[in-house]
Amino acid sequence: IHILVIHGPNLNLLGQRETSVYGTDSLEKINTLIEKEAEEHGFEVSTFQSNYEGALVEAIQEARGKYDFIIINPAAYTHTSVALRDAILAVNIPTIEVHLSNIYKREKFRHKSYISGVAIGQICGFGVQSYLLAIKAIAEIIKQKKE
Ligand code: DQA
Repeated sequence: IHILVIHGPNLNLLGQRETSVYGTDSLEKINTLIEKEAEEHGFEVSTFQSNYEGALVEAIQEARGKYDFIIINPAAYTHTSVALRDAILAVNIPTIEVHLSNIYKREKFRHKSYISGVAIGQICGFGVQSYLLAIKAIAEIIKQKKE
């Protein structure tokens, strides 16, 4: 099982940016934890971050035929991007949307996600655990398929 983890804009600044909201772990640290969790389930994982919407669209397009699942934190593009939504629809790869913060506890403009309607589901509010829970969810999905 190959999983592509995509991090959207400003997530390269994790650990320095709004630490009261997003925590003190750097993106590098978070990617290490993701790799560890994936390894425990016997999954292969690749991680990608970009601040550019088009680069994120291309990463999704290029995932076609290579990855079994996508885990995406679209960051601010969650609330604006029809292009990311359409890319996920186009490649038809089961996708889990994650957020570090609980977006429903925050400003109203963060309550709307263009991604959730095309995702298997959304996990938000658990910090780094949101990503790790997404990997656990994939493990469950695969287990259920085998039963
Ligand atoms: C975020 C939530 C978004 O609203 C915000 O724009 C981010 C990060 C999160 O992980 O909590 O950049 O996706």
